[in-house]
Amino acid sequence: MSQTREQYTMGYGPAATAIMAVRTAQGHAAFFLPQLKPGMSVLDCGCGPGTITIGFAELVAPGQVVGTEIEDSHVALARANAAKRNVSNVRFEPADIYALPFDSASFDAVFISAVVGNLREPVRGLREAYRVLKPGGVIGIKEFDHGGDLLYPLDAALKQYNACYCRLRSENGHDPESGRKVGAFLLDAGFRNVKMSACYESMADPNALRGIAGAFAGLLSDGWGDAFKDRGWATNEDIREMSDAWLRFPETPGAFYAGAWVEVMAQKDGAS
Ligand SMILES: C[S@@+](CC[C@H](N)C(=O)[O-])C[C@H]1O[C@@H](n2cnc3c(N)ncnc32)[C@H](O)[C@@H]1O
Repeated sequence: MSQTREQYTMGYGPAATAIMAVRTAQGHAAFFLPQLKPGMSVLDCGCGPGTITIGFAELVAPGQVVGTEIEDSHVALARANAAKRNVSNVRFEPADIYALPFDSASFDAVFISAVVGNLREPVRGLREAYRVLKPGGVIGIKEFDHGGDLLYPLDAALKQYNACYCRLRSENGHDPESGRKVGAFLLDAGFRNVKMSACYESMADPNALRGIAGAFAGLLSDGWGDAFKDRGWATNEDIREMSDAWLRFPETPGAFYAGAWVEVMAQKDGAS
C-alpha cells in the first residue's frame, strides 16, 4: 500500500519545521562531512527547510548541491534560506524520494536525514538513492529511533502521548524505530561497506527543552490531537493533560530529554 503526501509528512506544522530549521551540516551531519570535498555533487533527499543542504553547498563549492522535497512549502522555505545565506551552488526541487528526477550515476554523495522512518517502503527509496549515485559514491543516513528516547520526568500523560504518537505514525506507514534498521535496509538496497553508529541529541537547559516540548505539544494542535480522539485513543481531557504535561516538562527541575539518532555510511559498488 503506498502513502499519500499527507501521510509522508503527517502535516508538519510550524513548531516541527522550526526544530528542523536549526539543524546545520556541522551540528547534525558531522559524521558525513569528512566525505565531502570541494567540487563534489551532492543530493540531500527530503531536505526539509534546507539548512543542512546549504551547509553542504558551502563545503563543496564550486560543486553543485541539490535538495529535494515532497512538501512544496519546504522547497519554498529552503530556497528562501539559500537566498538569505547568499549561497548560489545549491538548488531545491520538489521530488518524491521514490522517483528522483535525475539520471542514474549523477551524484558523488547522497545524504538523507530523518526521512527513512517516514517511508512505508524504505528499501525502495534507498534503491532510488543508489541509482542516482555514481559508482563508488557514498551515502550518509541519519535516522531517529524513538526506542532510544530518554525522557525525565515521564508522567502518565507523556507516556500516553508517546504511545499515541508512535501508533499514529505507524498507521501512516512510518516506523518510529527505523534508526536501528537502516544498515539492513542499505544492504537490501545494494550498498556495501555499511558502517553504523549512534549518538544522542541531549537537552537539559530549559530553552532547548522548551523548543522540543513546544514541537511535540504543537503537533497536538496541528491535528494530531484530533486524530488521537477520532481513533478513540484519547479523550478531550487526555489531550489537555498531554498538552499541559509538555508545557510543564521544561520547567521541571532536573528535566532531561535525549533522542537517539543512528548514523550510517555506505557505498555504491564500483570505481572509487
Ligand atoms: C523530519 S523532516 C527532516 C528534514 C531534514 N532532512 C532534516 O533532517 O532536518 C522529513 C522530511 O522528509 C520529507 N519527506 C517525507 N516523505 C518524503 C518523500 N517520499 N520524498 C521526499 N521527501 C519526503 C518531509 O516533507 C520532511 O521535510
